Amino acid sequence: MKIAVLPGDGIGTEIVAEAVKVLNALDLKLEMETALVGGAAYEAHGHPLPEATLKLAKEADAVLFGAVGDWKYDKLERALRPEQAILGLRKNLGLFANLRPAICYEQLVGASSLKPELIAGLDILIIRELTGDVYFGQPRGRRTASDGLFPGAEEAFDTMRYSRPEVERIAHVAFQAARKRSNRVTSVDKANVLETFQFWKDVVTEVGTQYPDVALDHMYVDNAAMQLVREPKKFDVVVTGNLFGDILSDEAAMLTGSIGMLPSASLNASKQGLYEPSHGSAPDIAGKGIANPLATILSAAMMLRYSLNQEAAAQRIEAAVKSVLAQGLRTADIFSPGTTRVSTLEMGAAVLRAL
Ligand code: IPM
Ligand code: MG
Repeated sequence: MKIAVLPGDGIGTEIVAEAVKVLNALDLKLEMETALVGGAAYEAHGHPLPEATLKLAKEADAVLFGAVGDWKYDKLERALRPEQAILGLRKNLGLFANLRPAICYEQLVGASSLKPELIAGLDILIIRELTGDVYFGQPRGRRTASDGLFPGAEEAFDTMRYSRPEVERIAHVAFQAARKRSNRVTSVDKANVLETFQFWKDVVTEVGTQYPDVALDHMYVDNAAMQLVREPKKFDVVVTGNLFGDILSDEAAMLTGSIGMLPSASLNASKQGLYEPSHGSAPDIAGKGIANPLATILSAAMMLRYSLNQEAAAQRIEAAVKSVLAQGLRTADIFSPGTTRVSTLEMGAAVLRAL
């Protein structure tokens, strides 16, 4: 089993190091190879996703990814910005299915900005389509408007689009995931305004007829954003497009009290996957040794489950994480009075002990 390890920028290197220690402790035959990505790769090779890094990722069974980005790269032309590395990996590896669980850990109920009774026991799975939509649609760019409200004015445009196979395959992922949970799927769209999302809704409904045991409902994205903070436990599996999924998954993550706890998986049709924490590179705290490595460690667990077929090892890691939380250990992001504040390294070491 070959894993490409891409720590990236900011806190990426610190948190990935802890996840690698955990993987090494499992007595599995894992071959790990590290490469530069994001701003770090740009500094060294002039490109955020160098050929060698892409090749390593393509040849691996799975990619363990940290985070990319730093404000200092915001002025670079778009093609050279760190974010292009993650978009390029998604596109080149065909990672169309992004699974973002939002789970509220019992011990962290108090860390949420919502009332404890609204989020205790929360367990949502957001399934975000990841290689289509306005993120990748062509054409896009800047030009002089030939029509619209201000002909002759400078304008910018992107293209929102989805093809039938793209919607069908992500719908299947959602319905199949629902069968392993409570047989409920909410498809989020904007069918009241957008052609693309009326089509999305129609196709998801059609695919749904193949899953008569799964209850499907539809919700407009604005309402979904509202219901997520009003009554989040109403949701189970949520399936949506790339842009809406980007936004709703951040919202759902924050409901749980700490985005520092949430892993994610991005899978292609052959179950090759990229695994990364749901949070970003947090350059403001990079190098301070205070970042929470648990989201990355839990991403490694997802990797064992979905790409490497090692369910037992995945569960061992998840149990170890619950155990360190039960011991009262907390990094700064989830610290509360009465618990013990630990560093990134100490948290990683505690997970190793619990394993
Ligand atoms: C995410 C991030 C990325 C996205 C950025 C870094 C390109 O926000 O994974 O949610 O927009 O998809
Ligand atoms: Mg995002």
